[in-house]
Order: sequence, then C-alpha cells, then structure tokens
Amino acid sequence: MLLGMEVPFLLSLVFLSLLIATGEAQSKPILINCGSDSTIPAGGRTWVGDLVAGNNLTLSSPGFNASAVAAVDRDLALGSLYRTARIFNASSNYTFNVSAGNYYIRIHFYPFSLEGFNMNESVFDVTTNGLRLLSKYNVTEEIARKKLESNSTDASLVKEYFLSISSDMLWIQFVPASKSFAYVNAMEVLPVLDKSFFESAIKVDGGGGHDPSPLDLLDRGMETMYRVNMGDNPVKPEQDPGLWRSWESDAKYMFSLSTASTTTNSSNISYADISHSSVAPLQVYEDARVMNENGVVEKKFNMSWEFGIHPNFEYLVRLHFCELNFTASNLRVFRIYINLKIAFPNYDVFQRAGGKDRAHHEDFLDNVSEQVDTLWLQLGHDSAASALATDAILNGLEIFKLSKNGNLAHVSEKIDTGAGVFQGKGSKGKTLWIGISAGVASMITLSVVCVLIFFFCCIRQKKTAPVKSSHPAWRPLVLHGALASTANAHAVKLPCNANGQMAANRTGRRFSIVEIRTATGNFDESLVIGTGGFGNVYKGQLQDGDWVAIKRANPHSQQGLAEFETEIEILSKLRHRHLVSLIGYCEEQNEMILVYEYMANGTLRSHLYGRDLPTLSWKQRLEACIGAARGLHYLHTGLERGIIHRDIKTTNILLDENLVAKMADFGLSKTGPMLDHTHVSTAVKGSFGYLDPEYFRRQQLTQKSDVYSFGVVLFEVVCARPVINPTLPKDQINLAEWAARWQQQGSLEAIVDPRLRGNYSLESLKKFGEIALKCLADQGKNRPTLGEVLWHLEYVLQLHEAYMRSFDADSSPRSEMEFADMSLGLPMIMEVEETACPETEGSKIIHDVKTKFEGQCSKVADGGDDSSIS
Ligand SMILES: *[C@@H]1O[C@H](CO)[C@@H](O)[C@H](O)[C@H]1NC(C)=O
Ligand SMILES: *[C@@H]1O[C@H](CO)[C@@H](O)[C@H](O)[C@H]1NC(C)=O
Ligand SMILES: *[C@@H]1O[C@H](CO)[C@@H](O)[C@H](O)[C@H]1NC(C)=O
Ligand SMILES: *[C@@H]1O[C@H](CO)[C@@H](O)[C@H](O)[C@H]1NC(C)=O
Ligand SMILES: *[C@@H]1O[C@H](CO)[C@@H](O)[C@H](O)[C@H]1NC(C)=O
Ligand SMILES: *[C@@H]1O[C@H](CO)[C@@H](O)[C@H](O)[C@H]1NC(C)=O
Ligand SMILES: *[C@@H]1O[C@H](CO)[C@@H](O)[C@H](O)[C@H]1NC(C)=O
Ligand SMILES: *[C@@H]1O[C@H](CO)[C@@H](O)[C@H](O)[C@H]1NC(C)=O
Ligand SMILES: *[C@@H]1O[C@H](CO)[C@@H](O)[C@H](O)[C@H]1NC(C)=O
Ligand SMILES: *[C@@H]1O[C@H](CO)[C@@H](O)[C@H](O)[C@H]1NC(C)=O
Ligand SMILES: *[C@@H]1O[C@H](CO)[C@@H](O)[C@H](O)[C@H]1NC(C)=O
Repeated sequence: MLLGMEVPFLLSLVFLSLLIATGEAQSKPILINCGSDSTIPAGGRTWVGDLVAGNNLTLSSPGFNASAVAAVDRDLALGSLYRTARIFNASSNYTFNVSAGNYYIRIHFYPFSLEGFNMNESVFDVTTNGLRLLSKYNVTEEIARKKLESNSTDASLVKEYFLSISSDMLWIQFVPASKSFAYVNAMEVLPVLDKSFFESAIKVDGGGGHDPSPLDLLDRGMETMYRVNMGDNPVKPEQDPGLWRSWESDAKYMFSLSTASTTTNSSNISYADISHSSVAPLQVYEDARVMNENGVVEKKFNMSWEFGIHPNFEYLVRLHFCELNFTASNLRVFRIYINLKIAFPNYDVFQRAGGKDRAHHEDFLDNVSEQVDTLWLQLGHDSAASALATDAILNGLEIFKLSKNGNLAHVSEKIDTGAGVFQGKGSKGKTLWIGISAGVASMITLSVVCVLIFFFCCIRQKKTAPVKSSHPAWRPLVLHGALASTANAHAVKLPCNANGQMAANRTGRRFSIVEIRTATGNFDESLVIGTGGFGNVYKGQLQDGDWVAIKRANPHSQQGLAEFETEIEILSKLRHRHLVSLIGYCEEQNEMILVYEYMANGTLRSHLYGRDLPTLSWKQRLEACIGAARGLHYLHTGLERGIIHRDIKTTNILLDENLVAKMADFGLSKTGPMLDHTHVSTAVKGSFGYLDPEYFRRQQLTQKSDVYSFGVVLFEVVCARPVINPTLPKDQINLAEWAARWQQQGSLEAIVDPRLRGNYSLESLKKFGEIALKCLADQGKNRPTLGEVLWHLEYVLQLHEAYMRSFDADSSPRSEMEFADMSLGLPMIMEVEETACPETEGSKIIHDVKTKFEGQCSKVADGGDDSSIS
C-alpha cells in the first residue's frame, strides 16, 4: 500500500526534474556581446562575449574583432555593450544549439568609427535558418531615416524578429555585399515558452466578420515593426523581464493628440488568461488612451494612429486591451478599423476579456498592397451601439510584418532629404493623412462590394457578348448597353412601374430634335449657360416642366465629338451623387446632343469671384470641396482601372439648388493605368493654372495629376481669385505658386478671401492649407490620393463645425453632423444590370455614332477651348 503510493510519486519526481533539467539547458536566453572576449553586464543583463570559451555558439569564420576607439554615447542604455563589434569581410555564420520552438531574435547595430573600416560603407544581408531578414542593408541610412521620420535621436539600431524554429539549430548568417563588409554589435536569442503566443488572428477583410483563423508561423518569420504602450509611459526592457521588450509611447504616432486622453489605474490588473502572461507586461495594460470628451460635439472624434510600413507584406496587428473603468459590458463598444477597413465592428473589451481590469489581447491580420506604405489604426464609434457606449479604449499595440516567400527584407528606396519642402514641417516627414470619419471606411467597403459585383458582371458579360471590333480611331467602348444602363441606375432612385417604363421614359432617353429645339427655344443664345471646344450648353425646359442642361456638339469640332464619346462612355459607366448625371441624348439631323440634369446654382467659380453672387460661407465651401472630392474619389476608384478626370477646375464643379457639388465634364477623362502600369502616356491636356507640372514634363498621366489640379481648386476656394491672373505682379500671377508660398510660411490666413474673415476656424484653415499644399507636391508620389484628401477635408469640416458650435451655445440641432454616418447616406449606385441586355438601344446609338463619325475623328485636334492646351 505504502509502496504503491511512493513509486508513482518518485517516478513523477524524476520525470519532473528531467523536464526542468532539459528545459533549463535548452531554453535559456542567449545574449551575445559580439567582437569581444569578455562577458559584461549591460542593461541589467549579462552578455557573453562571442570569443568566450564554452559560450555554446560556433562562428564559422571569425572575421575581425572591432573595438570603438572613441567613447560610446553615454546616453545609450546599452552603451557598454556597443563598444565592440564583429566585422565580416566574407560570409559567416553564428550557429546556436537550441531546441525547436519560438524565439525572439534581436540584432543590435551601432555604427562607430574604427580605423580601417568606415561603418557608413557597410552594406550586407542577414539570413537566419533560410529566412532573409535584411537585404542590401545600410544601417547608417536606416538610422538617418528614423531620425527624419520620427525625430528619433537613437544612434543605435535594434532589429527584432520572431521565429518559429522547427530544427534544433539556429544559424544567423551575415553576408557582406561585394566590396563591402558586415558588422554586428550584439545579439539576443530569447525563447518564447508560451506555445500559443501567436495562435490565431482575425482577418481584416472589411467584411466585419471576426472569427479568428489559425496562424501558422512554422518556418515563417515576423519582424517587429512597432511596439507601443498607449499613453505617456514607455515601458523599458528592464520592466519586461524574460523578453526584455521596449514599449515606446504612442504620442508620435497619433494623428491628432487632442482626440484622446489618457487614463491610468494600476491597482488590480490581472491577465484574463494567465498562460498569456508573457504576451505583455502588466504595465502595458495599466494605462490607456480613451476618446477625449469633446465639449462641443455630441459624437467623439475617432482616435487614429499612423505607422509607416513596408508595402506588399502581411501584417499582424496585436492590440492590447484592459477595461479600466466600466464594470459591465455594453458600456464601451467601439469599432476597430485597420487601414480603413472594419477589423471588428463592435468591440467590447469588458465582454471579450471577461471583466474589468483583465488584460487581454486581440490579433488582426491585414494584407497590405503594393501601394500602401502606411498602416492606419482607428478606433471609433460603433453606430449600432447603445447611446451610452460612445467611448473606445486602447492600452497597447504591436505591429509585426510577416515573411513572404522566405523573405522579410524590404529594399528601401533612397531617402530624398531634398524634398523637404513638401515633406511636412521639421521632424515629422511622414504625411499626416487621414480623416476621422468612420463612415469613410464603410463607404470604401460599399464601393469594394460594388466593384466586385461589377467585375463579376463584366466577366459574365464578356462571355455572352462577343467583343465588337472597333475602328482603330475609336477607343473601344468598355460597356455595351451604356445608356440603357443609365436607365437602370436611375430606376433605383425613381419610382417606376413593373416594366420599368417610368425609368426608361425619364432617363437614358432618346430625345427628338424637335423636343430639344422646343426646350431650348430653338437654341436661343440667351439660354446659353456654357461654352467650350465642344460647342454650347443651353438651359432648357422639357415638356414635363423639368429643367435640364443641353450640351450641343459643334459638328465641325472634332474635339467636340471625341469628347462626347468619352463623356457618354464615362457617364454611362458611373453614377454617383457627386457626378453630374446624364438624362438622355439626341442624335438626329447630324446633331449630337447630350441632356443632363440641370444644376441650378451653376459653377463653383461663379460663387467665388467674377459674379455678384452671395458669398459662400466657409462651411459651404468646405462642403462643396468635399462633394467634389467624393465624386472624384469615386471616379478614381469606382471602376477596375479607375478614371482620371484630367480637367478639374472650379468651372467643372457644379452646384445644384441645394449647393450640393457635382463634378462635370468628362470630355478629357481617361481610363486609368492598367494594374501593372503606373501611368498612361498621353498628350498633355488640361487647363492652364490647374495643370500638373509633372504631367506636363513627363507626359505621363496618373490620378495624382487630378490631385494636383484639385489642390489648385482648394486654394482657389480659399483665396477666391483666378488661378492665373496676368494683371498681378509676377510672383502672384500663378495662384498655385503664390498660395503655396503663403501656406509654407504658415500664414495662409493673410490671403484668405476677405469675405470669409472672422467666420472660419483658424485651425480648420490650417489643416485645409496643409492638404492643399500636399496636393501640389512636386512629385505625384508625394501627393495624397483623392481618398486621403477627402478624409482630411471631412476632418477640416468637423474642426470648423466644432469651432462654430463653441461660439453658438444655443445652436439648433439643425446643423448637427453625424460624423460616423456622414457618408452612408450617399447612393453608390453601380449599374450591374446591363448584363441582362447585351445589345440595347444605348449601345446601338453609340455604335451608330461611332460609325457615323468614323474617320472624322481619326486625329483628335484641339477644338479651341480658350483655356485648354494640347
Ligand atoms: C552552455 O550550455 C551549458 C549547458 O548545455 C550551460 O550549462 C552553460 O551555462 C552554457 N554556457 C553559457 C555561457 O551560457
Ligand atoms: C551543438 O550540438 C552538436 C551536436 O548536436 C555538437 O556537435 C556541437 O558541438 C554543439 N555546439 C555547441 C556550440 O554546443
Ligand atoms: C580577436 O580577439 C582575440 C582575443 O582578444 C584575439 O585572440 C584574436 O587574435 C583577435 N582576432 C582578430 C582577427 O583580431
Ligand atoms: C578578409 O580580410 C582578410 C584579412 O585582411 C583577408 O585575408 C581576406 O582576403 C579578406 N577577404 C575578403 C573576401 O575580402
Ligand atoms: C551558414 O549556414 C548555412 C546553412 O547551414 C550554409 O548554407 C552556409 O554555407 C553557411 N555559411 C558559412 C559561411 O558557413
Ligand atoms: C557616417 O554617416 C553619418 C550620417 O550620415 C555621419 O554623421 C558620420 O560622420 C559618417 N561617418 C563617417 C566615418 O563617415
Ligand atoms: C549608407 O548610408 C549613408 C547615409 O545615408 C551614406 O552616407 C553611405 O554612403 C551609405 N553607404 C553605402 C555603401 O551606400
Ligand atoms: C482603480 O481600480 C480599482 C480597482 O478596480 C478601483 O477600486 C479604484 O477606484 C480605481 N481608481 C481609479 C482612480 O479609478
Ligand atoms: C481585484 O481583483 C480581484 C480578482 O480579480 C477581485 O476579486 C477584487 O474584487 C478586485 N478588487 C477590486 C477593488 O476591484
Ligand atoms: C467610469 O464609469 C462610470 C460608470 O461606471 C461612468 O459614469 C464614468 O463616466 C466613467 N468614466 C470614464 C472616464 O469613462
Ligand atoms: C525632436 O525631439 C526632441 C527631443 O527628443 C525635442 O526636443 C524636439 O522638440 C523634437 N522636435 C520636433 C520638431 O518634434
């Protein structure tokens, strides 16, 4: 009996001690002091020299030991460690015996001067267990980049990786570039014992689903890009024993510090799941950012953080949460956006963590495309949450880059310090782009869905409708049934009977020339509301009393005809609240006439200067800009290849009876570049004063050319003067140059339209000027996208509204703004139904028109629009 109990007890004791023994031997942290034969303390830890006997590592070729001649920067916590380095003039391996498992690996670099070697000349690759960590790496350059981007004063550089090793050997290989050398100051290999440290992640696909998928990191690696403790208390490595991570403060990554405040409570925090205690030290959970109480606006602004990343990788975003105040669920429910996609629609920390004061983390996986070099994290109001739950909280954040095809290295472009003018002021070279509106993300989701449906239908259509061969002089029309599809789109808005007759009657309609002549008083000159290279635009009234705008092609203008074709093509493909819509056409007696909705308030320019119309308020101007930006953003992103407007100016922004702005005149528009091209090569067209100088120089059209023109429009809206005014002194003739100079000096308010004075918030004007200036960046790649401009403008409007309300204590609810839902009310109508009718009246018309003018338009000449150039 006694024996029977003792044996298993002894056995388990032996087993246990065995476990401890092997565990200790194989999973101790390895800390290496490179290029040294001494073991030294630094940062509270002991670092073993890589020449020390019995250090359990092998070095395939020793290279050189290097010691700093000059004293190492005293401010460096690990300064004593950085006094030596190992230098390799040929490929060499550090090999460690480890057990299979998860490891954090840190590689420390500190470029010091040394006789015989200039560390600035060092360029090398680092590979570990077949995974490339660094490629053609120039440490000095990276340190300079950090200095520029985030005002970092750190003279050293630490790269951190997470590896899941399946063999019992870890090798780290340094390969100098030809005629160069590699160096390393110190290395850490830290076992991560928690087997489920990285286990699963929620895929960010914008769909709002939040079931985590398993994350298989075996033989894959990650690079730590950011590790941040929200609030003003960085956590030092000494406070994170075991993994010795450094958690920096988030302030420099916050888009607007004023949107958040910090909250702290360290009294009673514990891990929601104790097995995850190595995920982050409790200090990370003790303080948090919460949304700022905004005294003037009901809804709080989103909290946004911006992080520079390397394009074309997958990123794991780990968010650390701990509810510090509320004692029940449903009191703090918020939406998480990652790169403007909904990552989690209704996050409730209390519920997910299982209570108050419980440390919990959540992993998200986002795939970043080739063009994206910024990761945005935003927490905002969940519109479905109860009225009480208007706040959000975040305690900590980590961003990891996942390897792709065995590679983690990002080969960086050379940094261009010369571009300082447009790189933002001083330290923050990074762009400051993002709006606050959560609705934007929903809008994007919506448009993505629309685009997908559209693609699907295109594919189906291709199968059913044989592709027509077109005369080479004509661009093939992408969509057949173009005008009929317009009818379908309108059917969504207008009441119609079961046969859709009403819609068909009202839109996409074929007008007889008699109807048109009646509507326009036989093309009465007094009804002309616009002219251009194409011909005249008349105001007209249809028999049912509706006002319309009637654009009549000058049959002698070849440009006019080509532009008509483009216009039909564009407008029949796209419908949007902020694009002027096409009602019908007339094609009789050699006439080519398009009928549009009538925009009662005419052009935006007419409200800015030159006419004696009542002044638009700052808010109205902002709303007009936002409307136009919405239309353009949709134009740029709504279709597979996007469309470049090419002629953005204040006369092509029209205002309806409610001053809602719509983009008009797509005569010069071009389909955007194919996916594998960055631009469209084309003859330069556009309007003086608005024309992108880069496009002018290189004759390569991108959507960024539109952004430039839009930037000019923004300045025109503030200054209310012509973009080119030859009567002014030389330095003032060109608005873009003149206004940009004032903005650069930070004194845009000096040249603001005097009629606005005193009626705008200075802060909103400052931000507005910033955006406008960014749009005018010399190089397209430094300009924001129109989507970014749009978000930023929405933010400007919010700033202004908040300001106005702070003055107007008893303001009526009339002017309330629904920040979160701002763009949800917008119709995002894409015609998807035309697939049902492959050969329709509309396509026939276009085909007829094409046949009729074939040959005439083989050479598109400038029709003589006074402000256009060819
Ligand atoms: C090398 O490994 C042995 C056990 O395998 C261990 O006892 C010893 O401390 C290690 N040496 C160093 C310098 O870490
Ligand atoms: C690593 O293990 C191998 C055998 O598995 C042994 O030959 C080698 O000496 C070990 N290396 C070190 C540095 O302990
Ligand atoms: C590196 O340092 C060790 C010990 O100080 C010395 O024995 C060795 O010769 C040095 N190697 C080189 C290449 O300088
Ligand atoms: C590296 O340096 C050593 C010593 O100066 C020299 O003998 C060797 O040729 C060099 N190797 C390369 C690849 O430059
Ligand atoms: C380093 O190790 C890798 C993998 O074992 C091997 O392919 C490579 O040749 C080694 N390099 C040197 C210089 O020993
Ligand atoms: C290396 O480059 C840095 C910054 O570019 C510079 O401050 C330093 O003087 C350079 N060192 C040498 C030895 O050229
Ligand atoms: C590395 O970068 C520094 C700083 O930008 C530069 O001075 C140096 O020439 C670069 N080295 C090489 C080999 O390109
Ligand atoms: C901090 O948390 C403890 C325990 O949850 C609570 O009793 C205390 O009131 C909190 N302190 C503050 C300042 O919120
Ligand atoms: C502290 O936490 C423990 C366990 O989570 C809980 O039982 C206790 O009520 C908490 N104390 C306060 C003051 O909230
Ligand atoms: C903390 O919670 C209480 C109710 O539990 C609430 O009234 C209060 O506003 C909250 N404070 C903050 C700063 O959220
Ligand atoms: C850059 O950082 C230093 C200290 O780290 C600070 O004094 C300085 O104001 C910062 N500059 C800017 C423009 O943020």
